[in-house]
Amino acid sequence: MKLPRQFYQPLAICAPEPLRELPVRLERMIHFVPPHVEKVTAKVPELIRQVDVVLGNLEDAIPADAKEAARAGFIAMAKATDFGATGLWTRINALNSPWVLDDITQTVAAIGNKLDVIMLPKVEGAWDIHYLDQLLAQLEARHGIKKPIMIHAILETAQGVNNVESIAAASPRMHGMSLGPADLAASRGMKTTRVGGGHPDYVVLADAKDDAKRAAFQQDLWHYTTAKMVDACAAAGIKPFYGPFGDFSDPAGCEAQFRNAFLMGCAGAWSLHPSQIGIAKRVFSPDPAEVATARKIIAAMPDGTGAAMIDGKMQDDATWKQAKVVVDLARLVAAKDPEMASRYGL
Ligand code: GLV
Ligand code: MG
Repeated sequence: MKLPRQFYQPLAICAPEPLRELPVRLERMIHFVPPHVEKVTAKVPELIRQVDVVLGNLEDAIPADAKEAARAGFIAMAKATDFGATGLWTRINALNSPWVLDDITQTVAAIGNKLDVIMLPKVEGAWDIHYLDQLLAQLEARHGIKKPIMIHAILETAQGVNNVESIAAASPRMHGMSLGPADLAASRGMKTTRVGGGHPDYVVLADAKDDAKRAAFQQDLWHYTTAKMVDACAAAGIKPFYGPFGDFSDPAGCEAQFRNAFLMGCAGAWSLHPSQIGIAKRVFSPDPAEVATARKIIAAMPDGTGAAMIDGKMQDDATWKQAKVVVDLARLVAAKDPEMASRYGL
């Protein structure tokens, strides 16, 4: 393990100082764009007003014969657009692929000063983060990049899940992590053919003592992994995200999956289709009624200590801390969205 004193040293001479704190940013949805499709990239200037993060996807879902066009399209799109407060990310190809070295070297050279985050797929252990960390420092030094480009890992292999804690803590460059249910299902040998979401056969039955027809309750296939990821990220001070929900014809299923992730501590999810932007915005902005309750708790315990009764419920230091999480997020949403600001009364 790297010694504490060395953890925050730049990994290359003239690379920017690693960040000690994550930038505070609203990242309710990471919106995926296929950068080789001009019809889609033409709409990016409009898109950046609706989403928190635009991500140029270079990995899965981009055909092998379009990989170069996607990379070039992403660089052109990034150069042509002023992203303002909207995040600019890319998902590069996996470290064992023939495209990844050009993905990294060409994007950092061309748009390294605009790029906020590189999403790295199929991360197996801290060694994958260390490799990208070192390479990015060398490239940042070579190209005079002013702020460190952050790394976001996709948790989508069984080995990655085993190593999730060391991945989360691998570098000050770590921004966060997304659950990748499609690759993870394949890696684990799960018997599904879906991109995220539940499965009607993953159920618990009501007790057998009843002669009547037994009710079946569908369970969440992703509960264990989401919980493990949230703990690893929170402990390391980085952000957890739910990833993709592939059934665009099931907005209610998508909303339920996103909401479970939100309640368990995730900061956002991926939007793969325009219809999922609104869902993510609704789910990952706290509910105005919850914000009102949280503000009551904070008002009743201004210094965050002691106990108070509000509407018959006991509040103490611990609920004050929960309330602060909700109100801090509401303030972040309000700063970006005047309509939500008025619904929150902020
Ligand atoms: C995302 O990349 C996934 O595999 O689910
Ligand atoms: Mg994947």
